[in-house]
Amino acid sequence: MQRGVIVGCGAMGKCHGEAYSKIENARIIAVVDTDQAKGEALAEQLQCKWVASLEELKQEQVDFVDICLPTFLHLPAIREAAFLTDKIICEKPLAVKKEEIEETLSLIREKNLKLMVAHVLRFFEGYVKTKELIEDGTLGAINSISCTRRQKMPAWSGNNWFANTALSGGLVFDLLIHDLDYVVWMLGKPKAVVGHVTYSEEKSPAHVKVQLHYENCTADMVASWGMPRGFAEGGLRSCLEVIGENAMVYSDNTGSFVVTDHEGAKEYPMEGYDGYEAELRYFVECCEQGISPEKVRVDSVEVSLEVAHAVSRSMEEQRIIYLEK
Ligand SMILES: NC(=O)c1ccc[n+]([C@@H]2O[C@H](COP(=O)([O-])OP(=O)(O)OC[C@H]3O[C@@H](n4cnc5c(N)ncnc54)[C@H](O)[C@@H]3O)[C@@H](O)[C@H]2O)c1
Repeated sequence: MQRGVIVGCGAMGKCHGEAYSKIENARIIAVVDTDQAKGEALAEQLQCKWVASLEELKQEQVDFVDICLPTFLHLPAIREAAFLTDKIICEKPLAVKKEEIEETLSLIREKNLKLMVAHVLRFFEGYVKTKELIEDGTLGAINSISCTRRQKMPAWSGNNWFANTALSGGLVFDLLIHDLDYVVWMLGKPKAVVGHVTYSEEKSPAHVKVQLHYENCTADMVASWGMPRGFAEGGLRSCLEVIGENAMVYSDNTGSFVVTDHEGAKEYPMEGYDGYEAELRYFVECCEQGISPEKVRVDSVEVSLEVAHAVSRSMEEQRIIYLEK
């Protein structure tokens, strides 16, 4: 049984807490939040205690720490968590500013932390299946990828830290990073990137359109916080299309998964499992075995963050950015 602590009892802390309650070999022993009401509410739901800081758990046996704090607090939380355990899961993005990314990676490497970044698309069924069909050769050589991810600006967080690019990393680091990390995980570092941003009336970034260029493949991505006000609060529209020489996959967040080859189109039945639960099951399994989570290697996350920085630069300088090998 792995005894865990969730730090941050907002949207993701709650989502992770609910997933752990379905994982037999994990038990949340405490939740941490500076907001007492949020902390107590989640503690009650998970039948554990609420504390205001990780420091208060120094005397406890803690097997893992799950960090669900606003992005700008990830580094200090990892530093504190490392005093309790080497098994840590941290929400994406790991960090945003270049110096912060470097400092976080050095800390992970110096302390030999078995840290997993919660890049949940690597565990979502449609994305997992697509990767399998690429790897087993069903799709053939991949020529074109298209990913979209659209929602309204997240408004669930009390002080609206998402809207502050310095704190959240904005659309590129907070939202686009999901698809960008997925493509970079599958295909590696692109040769070049181009990004373009359009703004809302309030002058905040509303849509980013990005292309990653590979030797014989282009990945197009759209990430939006610019959906109309009538779009469901917390709602999402996402899709993934991968076209290879033999076949193509279409998958979206309604559960549709269609493979079209030279003979015709076929809908694949989905199991319908929850990607967050799958992600955390995998993390807990790695904790039980005392191993580093290989499915989200820290060095692959480092490449995704490097590519995200190149995208931001391309948007600022309005030109193509070539990446070093
Ligand atoms: N994987 C996904 O699908 C996904 C979706 C949304 C957000 N995220 C990421 O998850 C992280 C958290 O996002 P969220 O939507 O849950 O944010 P949120 O604002 O809903 O929750 C953050 C919580 O942290 C608490 N908090 C703030 N400062 C604290 C401190 N110093 N110590 C303890 N608690 C503190 C707040 O009171 C709040 O309860 C972010 O990094 C975000 O990018 C991931």
